[in-house]
Amino acid sequence: METMTNKDTLFLNEKMGEIPFNFDQSTTNVFDDMLNRSVPFYQEIQNIITETAVQHLSQKKQPTVIDFGCSLGTTLINIGTEIQTPSTLIGLDYSPSMLDEAKTNSTRNKSLIKHTVKWMEQDLNKDFSHPLPESNLITMILTLQFIKKENRLGLLKKLHKTLASDGIFILVEKTIEKDKWTTDYFEKEYYKFKTKSGYSEKEIKNKKKALKTVLTPLTKDENINLLKCAGFSLAAPIFQWYNFTVILGKK
Ligand SMILES: C[S@@+](CC[C@H](N)C(=O)[O-])C[C@H]1O[C@@H](n2cnc3c(N)ncnc32)[C@H](O)[C@@H]1O
Repeated sequence: METMTNKDTLFLNEKMGEIPFNFDQSTTNVFDDMLNRSVPFYQEIQNIITETAVQHLSQKKQPTVIDFGCSLGTTLINIGTEIQTPSTLIGLDYSPSMLDEAKTNSTRNKSLIKHTVKWMEQDLNKDFSHPLPESNLITMILTLQFIKKENRLGLLKKLHKTLASDGIFILVEKTIEKDKWTTDYFEKEYYKFKTKSGYSEKEIKNKKKALKTVLTPLTKDENINLLKCAGFSLAAPIFQWYNFTVILGKK
């Protein structure tokens, strides 16, 4: 998918470490570069999601996909580009600047013409302001970790209710491990990844500080348990790179 490729230099600024990380216009402007340089195997994760979507949806008539925390629209645009069946694609996010950019990116993409595409503003910590249609696939990529811990089970229950009886859910999260040694070891590998991606020690430190109060990761098992408690009959990891995990759930 083609999006803006402004270089992420936000955390070169010392002051950015002092305020909680947020998804405003300045983050939106550099977000494509930020994701690609901060999420190991981001493109591969997108490929896994698109392949799963094509496999699950190609036999359905007018399938619906909802992406919770859609940011620039990348996940839905990738799915919509590959899926030949006319589909309904709905992206939810609470950041107006992200939604504006998602709209621009999807309008630019000619292969989405056959689909119905909607970008909707929704704070996932609050009740839904619009009823969501029954959906065949729901994705939530690196977003549950930003939802207040006490709201996660309730949100997953709503999401489970929205799915068709054979619907599936793909969850991608930054994860921690059960013990401190492994968590620290994975964190060190992640630090090496970010250094290789061109971030300086200062940038890594400032961003970590800014994320401390807003990004709360759980363990892989805690996430799987949440899915089971929300009603999913099956939930299993399908990809892991140190502290990043992709989980597939089935209604
Ligand atoms: C790490 S980004 C997601 C990346 C995106 N899914 C992708 O793979 O391209 C997290 C997104 O969740 C959104 N978000 C965070 N908290 C939210 C909330 N309470 N309600 C709705 N969206 C939220 C942010 O605005 C941001 O766009």
